[in-house]
Amino acid sequence: MKTILCIGAGYVGGPTMAVIAKQCPDCRVVVVDINAERISQWQSETLPIYEPGLTEIVHDVVNKNLFFSTEIGENIEKADIIFVSVNTPTKTFGEGAGRAADLQYWEKTARQILTHSKSDKIVVEKSTLPVRTAQAMERILNNGGNGVHFEVLSNPEFLAEGTAIRDLLHPDRILIGGHDTETGRNAVQSLVDIYAHWIPRERILTTNLWSSELSKLVANAFLAQRISSINSVSAICEATEADVTEVSAAIGSDSRIGNKFIHASVGFGGSCFQKDILNLVYLCEHYGLTEIADYWHQVVLMNHYQKRRFVNRMIKTMFNTVVDKRIAIFGFAFKANTGDTRESPAIAICKQLLEERAHLIVSDPKAIDNARRELGDVADGTVDYEVDPYVAAADAHAIAIVTEWQQYQSLDYERIYKAMVKPAFIFDGRNILDHKALHAIGFNVYPLGKPELAHL
Ligand code: NAD
Ligand code: UGA
Repeated sequence: MKTILCIGAGYVGGPTMAVIAKQCPDCRVVVVDINAERISQWQSETLPIYEPGLTEIVHDVVNKNLFFSTEIGENIEKADIIFVSVNTPTKTFGEGAGRAADLQYWEKTARQILTHSKSDKIVVEKSTLPVRTAQAMERILNNGGNGVHFEVLSNPEFLAEGTAIRDLLHPDRILIGGHDTETGRNAVQSLVDIYAHWIPRERILTTNLWSSELSKLVANAFLAQRISSINSVSAICEATEADVTEVSAAIGSDSRIGNKFIHASVGFGGSCFQKDILNLVYLCEHYGLTEIADYWHQVVLMNHYQKRRFVNRMIKTMFNTVVDKRIAIFGFAFKANTGDTRESPAIAICKQLLEERAHLIVSDPKAIDNARRELGDVADGTVDYEVDPYVAAADAHAIAIVTEWQQYQSLDYERIYKAMVKPAFIFDGRNILDHKALHAIGFNVYPLGKPELAHL
């Protein structure tokens, strides 16, 4: 029986290993973390993260062939394959601060693996890393002088939050990068054999290590670039009375463009798009590719602009002041179906509105606790948190839709309108509502990248 270890029990490590354990009953899968609270949550009825379908899978395999533990050294020693899925945030200090990846967790893990290994191991980069990190990993591991051979592979993860289980069970592709040497090819084959338990062989792509590392950064950069592109178009639409949804549909029906990831929004969020683009930008700068760095940096700058633009439009519409006005924020998570608020556009939007001295009532079905934490340092009594959207909107001057939670589409907006201060405004930053119906109720409706429907 193969023993697989995953270091890092986060959004990627937990769900990925649960699916591997479920699909490979012939493997023993152990997930370890330095965060003891996280590990005990994985062992409990209430998992540390919310993902549709995750609880059922974990329930099926936990303590059968999936184990969570804080005992890192002993589990390293027993493992044949070690996935490293620790966090790789943007560096906040020193050289490259604000752009480069902070590799401290990564390097600490490498040294732990070295200390506790007595037999040959395959070490798999699951975290998203700068190109050529595998080389640094190999240098740390293979110069340890303990006679153990480490083969490092890159196997980036492409799952999206909210659809993690579906993405893991039915991925578009699995990418495995390794060295073109005998030990490298053998290691790649071992990992292919794991995934081949449930993924058709033609969807398992094998490449050289650097292509695999780079492809992960480039995939996220391309996805984010599409969002920034359509968001730039939403600004042109507002200026010209074109409709961004119609433009998206028109360009997206060209099969060369495709209709995914061209949904205009208040801006992209999430723990990875911005960090991975900045990582790519830093890499380009490192190699002296200034023009290329500037090109990709613009995707991030456009995203900041879109968030500010949304708030500026709100202020301008509400007679150039929101001081002491109650504004209900519908949705704080960075996207629907997750409680994750990392880099959520809601953070910048709320902070800008608070700078303008608005009174916010933040509502979200899953992210209230995280919202409270994100805004804790600025809130100072001017933010209320309320799960119930009806209560949140009572006595409000405006509603801003910031996350595309489906439940916001089926609320009783007649009831909400009656309880609001008039004139009542709705700013639909995700274009999920029936704007004509809202206008008929009496709302002044400001969709994103579309003509307004106002009574004023
Ligand atoms: P996360 O912060 O949710 O989890 C990382 C975990 O690693 C934490 O629980 C932390 O305590 C643990 N950890 C850190 N150092 C450790 C050490 N030395 N030993 C043991 N545990 C340690 O992060 P995440 O969202 O799962 O992301 C992990 C990586 O995967 C990142 O590189 C990210 O870019 C990438 N990724 C994330 C997603 C996503 O949707 N979140 C998708 C694809 C790729
Ligand atoms: C993204 C990628 O989709 C995954 O493939 C990748 O593995 C992951 O990053 C990662 O590396 O962490 P995720 O951030 O979970 O996944 O979510 P997405 O669905 O990509 O959404 C990201 C942001 O873009 C959200 O704020 C979402 O609302 C926004 N978005 C998405 C738009 O504004 N418009 C769109 O058309 C699509």
